[in-house]
Amino acid sequence: MTTDPVVLAYSGGLDTSVAIGWIKERTGRDVIAVAVDVGQGGEDLEVIRRRALACGAVDAVVADARDEFATEYCMRALQANARYQGVYPLVSALSRPVITKHLVQVARDAGAHTVAHGCTGKGNDQVRFEVSITSQAPDMTCLSPVRDLALTRDVAIDYAEKHELPIETTKHNPFSIDQNVWGRAVETGYLEDIWNAPTKDVYTYTDDPTYPPLPDEVTIRFEAGIPVAVDGVELSPLGVIEELNRRAGAQGIGRIDLVEDRLVGIKSREIYECPGAVTLLEAHAELERVTLEREQARFKRQVDTRWSEIIYDGQWYSPLKASLDAFIDDTQRHVNGEIRMILHGGRAVVTGRRSDTGLYDFSLATYDSGDTFDQSSARGFIDIYGLPVKLAAAREARLAQADAS
Ligand code: ARG
Repeated sequence: MTTDPVVLAYSGGLDTSVAIGWIKERTGRDVIAVAVDVGQGGEDLEVIRRRALACGAVDAVVADARDEFATEYCMRALQANARYQGVYPLVSALSRPVITKHLVQVARDAGAHTVAHGCTGKGNDQVRFEVSITSQAPDMTCLSPVRDLALTRDVAIDYAEKHELPIETTKHNPFSIDQNVWGRAVETGYLEDIWNAPTKDVYTYTDDPTYPPLPDEVTIRFEAGIPVAVDGVELSPLGVIEELNRRAGAQGIGRIDLVEDRLVGIKSREIYECPGAVTLLEAHAELERVTLEREQARFKRQVDTRWSEIIYDGQWYSPLKASLDAFIDDTQRHVNGEIRMILHGGRAVVTGRRSDTGLYDFSLATYDSGDTFDQSSARGFIDIYGLPVKLAAAREARLAQADAS
């Protein structure tokens, strides 16, 4: 019989607090709780750590992964212009790989071979957790107390009350929320009726864009596709995201209401707020328009779409992801320069761009005198470019005439 401990991804909420005792009861194994800070804000992680111990964990670990998450995960998503189904900036999907990295690390240090998480059996996150864990550590197995040990919400409430766990069971929040520095995801409750409009209480990262403050002009400087300064002030990736969350959030930028295709086949509705992420994604995409060669940009759009899909589907640690990253890295070499934007009333609108490594050539583009584009070569180019379609059209005309006669 296995007696090594189970390493649990611990959020400090009701379900994972009860899971500590529940796993011990059902499997006879001790639990080590791990809380990973990905910039979710809210409760102090030291309070959460002590709660895990109070709920019966043999050990509780807190990992500050905020800079790591911003630099190695959010920035990769930015360089890939990552938006699942063209819309969702992958908030939750991005955090799972970094959380599992820390879980696997703690498990290795403790000689543990089982990692547990609080996800349900219907969502994407169970897939992301488990595929990420076994693709980093093929020798480990995964346990989902909610799915595998029948830890339903009602059971959790009863258990917490009976064992007097130091956790609120009565506070009624109709929503399921997941948040980190890249954004916030809200689902369930009345939002499950997709005709229902979201109410004000759904949002915390953004203010109502209907009543915005005065327009806010911002200039973001990029080096190799990574934002390095805001309004001339150099910042870390985490610093840039936080600064833009604040400023774009005040303008109500980055609110998204999406019915999406889950990996498990269900369509579900989620409300997202990603003020910093959406602002950065708009700016980065614009700088790519200025700096990428046309065919490279066309091909990259396909790579970006595929990248977003596999990250949504939990394939962060896959060979395909590594190969796509190599392509994306190569494309970012010349993505340097500045993007100026106006943040106002729910939108981040680009008003200016400049780049020393751009491909925009004023003297080629201008309609004023002094342009360097040789218009006389355009005629020959068009003749040959249009030739195949012209031949096909001539054939249609010939056949139509033959049919008529
Ligand atoms: N639908 C999003 C995804 O699969 C978010 C999942 C977590 N959402 C939540 N409200 N708990 O990436």
